Amino acid sequence: MAVPAAVEQQQGIVRFYDFLPERRTFLEDVLLGLSRAQKTIPPKYFYDAAGSQLFERICELPEYYPTRTEMAIMNACIGEIAQFIGPSVQLMEFGSGAGVKTRLLIEHVKPLLYVPIEIDGATMQAAAADLSARFPLLNIAGITADYSRHLVLPEFVLPISKKVAYFPGSSIGNFTPEEASEFLRRARRMVGSGGLLLIGVDLKKDKATLDAAYDDAAGVTAKFNLNLLTRINRELGAEFQVSRWGHKAFYDEEQGRIEMHLVSRFAQFTRIAGQRFDFAPGETIHTEISCKYSVDEFAAMSKSSGFSCDHTWTDERGMFAVFGMMAI
Ligand code: AVI
Repeated sequence: MAVPAAVEQQQGIVRFYDFLPERRTFLEDVLLGLSRAQKTIPPKYFYDAAGSQLFERICELPEYYPTRTEMAIMNACIGEIAQFIGPSVQLMEFGSGAGVKTRLLIEHVKPLLYVPIEIDGATMQAAAADLSARFPLLNIAGITADYSRHLVLPEFVLPISKKVAYFPGSSIGNFTPEEASEFLRRARRMVGSGGLLLIGVDLKKDKATLDAAYDDAAGVTAKFNLNLLTRINRELGAEFQVSRWGHKAFYDEEQGRIEMHLVSRFAQFTRIAGQRFDFAPGETIHTEISCKYSVDEFAAMSKSSGFSCDHTWTDERGMFAVFGMMAI
């Protein structure tokens, strides 16, 4: 589908595309994950409407420093970042969510086309409507898709100078390092030679700060984690008794990553699509990892995935980094 050039437009063109596979995949992933010795559920399933709202609340928690630290870096460095990106670009955002971080970038970069890619189609469309109201001339092609998989986007007929991928929020940390390298290589293919990647990455730091960020005093992260069971009950007809489950999150210093688990507080079982799953007391379902990197580790990984790391913007305390990279 071609989006016509923006020249003499009074209003940007807003289109939506659904690239999500059949919902059956959720069922398959859950059945497969719960059949493993260490039961798992992929973290992308956190983000139904309730999960997306809970995640927004997490981002405002005093203990959860990444969002506000990244925002502070973006605010402080937006002039340099806009200069690095340059004019007339196609800006693609992976996991665009509510689009709050994007406003600043759009305001300063003024892309010809903004392409939000988000697994939660309703959140993406609401964010696109909000951006369209704020930036009436902005062309938007909103994509409902799972960006952790290979994606071929439509080509848009606009006089763009280059493609720029934006991946904020340290969501790359939710991949294993191998998956992260694979993701970077896919992003490299999507932007093409001379294209850019602007990516936010949470940095390694002391365990106490990290433990608190993923197990907050108000229990919002616990609710976010437990919402997975509510979602499985609603969408897959399971009968998890959510009150019989707990939340566990800790930083594993050796592996440089947060692990998040749902903990069965009793011996219990549930049935999903006719299959029975038993849980021993204390047994866990592993729901998320959140890998932390040093600046050098991340720069090395990017280099081996086809990017030159041209800029690193960090906060004073070295908590978080925004990398500006070019596809080589
Ligand atoms: C989306 N992602 C970067 C968050 C993180 O920090 O890994 C998800 C999250 N899980 C618990 N709190 C936040």
